[in-house]
Amino acid sequence: MSNIHIPVMLEEVIDNLQVKKGDFCIDGTLGAMGYTKELLKKVGKEGKVLSLDLDEKAIAEANKIKKEKSLDNLIIEHSNFKNIKEVVVKHFSLQQKFNCIVVDLGLSSDQLYDEDRSFSFKNDAPLDMAFSREELNDTERIVNTYSQSELERIIKDYGEERFAKAISNNIVKERKEEAIKTGKRLQEIIAKSVPKRFWPKNINVATKTFQALRIATNEELQNIEEFLPQAIELLKPQGRLAVVSFHSLEDRIVKHYFKKEAKDCICPPKAPICVCEHKANIKILNPKGITASEEELERNPRARSARLRVVQKI
Ligand SMILES: C[S@@+](CC[C@H](N)C(=O)[O-])C[C@H]1O[C@@H](n2cnc3c(N)ncnc32)[C@H](O)[C@@H]1O
Repeated sequence: MSNIHIPVMLEEVIDNLQVKKGDFCIDGTLGAMGYTKELLKKVGKEGKVLSLDLDEKAIAEANKIKKEKSLDNLIIEHSNFKNIKEVVVKHFSLQQKFNCIVVDLGLSSDQLYDEDRSFSFKNDAPLDMAFSREELNDTERIVNTYSQSELERIIKDYGEERFAKAISNNIVKERKEEAIKTGKRLQEIIAKSVPKRFWPKNINVATKTFQALRIATNEELQNIEEFLPQAIELLKPQGRLAVVSFHSLEDRIVKHYFKKEAKDCICPPKAPICVCEHKANIKILNPKGITASEEELERNPRARSARLRVVQKI
């Protein structure tokens, strides 16, 4: 991997996690090791960092660096962060709690520019947007076998694409002629489906549909939903969880979950008395979330849509 990925809001993430010497931390999305490397510096030899990724290439690269630099306090695990509790039990125990946990959602620039895959429509690679090679739910199968209405729902819900109907109709029409096997061909079909006057100015006309198919392929929203309660359970009192998201669908899930968990009662607003017995177990540290500075945006335009939310366990 070429290490072209620039970590997003690195300083803000590390500062907000308030990592100290001897801390135990989890980086749920290792990627190009941007956050993991900083966490390792902060926790020192007395601490530990457990880092996960679904992508075999990211894992292989990190294992190489771990060996070269003798990073004995780094544990690398090829796994989905939705299985975080299982991974913790494998390496520690059911009782182990952590001072800090972070996930940086979505894909890395290394993946975006990987010529073996088609995360980017510029790529004539096989239609494969899975983070892991072991995923069964591959993009090619979704595009070539899902019904028109299923494709329309995915493109509309996960891509917020107003031309979802036309795009899904054309996908179904074109795949009857010949199976859609490359990102480039899919991009051409999408371009044909959207009238030129509606093409966005700053992004490729296929961006939203590609995002939708990537989210569906990796079940990204379900992963976050399953991860959040486990992450909060795994924190020590005063421990912190940071989530960096890149689009409103992810951010909405994170924001709503945090809001709910920060409340003492989650009964419907009209309920005369509380019957839920829910107790707040986190404190929201930045209700609006944190966005990248102007200076970072100049250096790394990818940070444009990023939002960081941090909570502290009570
Ligand atoms: C934005 S990158 C992380 C970059 C990293 N913070 C850095 O600074 O180098 C996201 C990474 O998360 C991984 N990923 C996405 N969903 C995942 C999941 N459910 N479980 C584990 N890893 C995941 C991707 O494979 C990718 O490598």
